[in-house]
Amino acid sequence: MAFYSKKVMEHFMNPKNVGEIKNADGIGKVGNPICGDMMVFYIKVKDNKIENVKFKTFGCGAAIAVSSIVSEMVVGKTLEEAINLKNDDVVKALDGLPKNKIHCSNLGADALHKAIENYKNKLLNNTEEK
Ligand code: FES
Repeated sequence: MAFYSKKVMEHFMNPKNVGEIKNADGIGKVGNPICGDMMVFYIKVKDNKIENVKFKTFGCGAAIAVSSIVSEMVVGKTLEEAINLKNDDVVKALDGLPKNKIHCSNLGADALHKAIENYKNKLLNNTEEK
């Protein structure tokens, strides 16, 4: 485990925001084509800002650390700021990941972006129905 940064280990051993949001405004699910692991993000949105985030990760330690730090990075951010979060930003925030674990970092921002898309689509559908 020595190849993981202290930050990765902290988030892996004590992940933040694990769980599910009932009546989430947006849900994003992604699967990693390389290893088959999965991640689900739930978001609550208020006044165009991410008010709450929860996640469930069925994956490796790096994927758990990635989910945890992504959830911390985007609470209180506007949807635009959250959409601009890149996989590279996540890796940097974790003080790096081993080369063979970089693919795990892709899940975090992707799942979050999907949850935001899901929220925007719901909003659009609601507007169209009225
Ligand atoms: Fe599957 Fe890391 S090995 S997400």
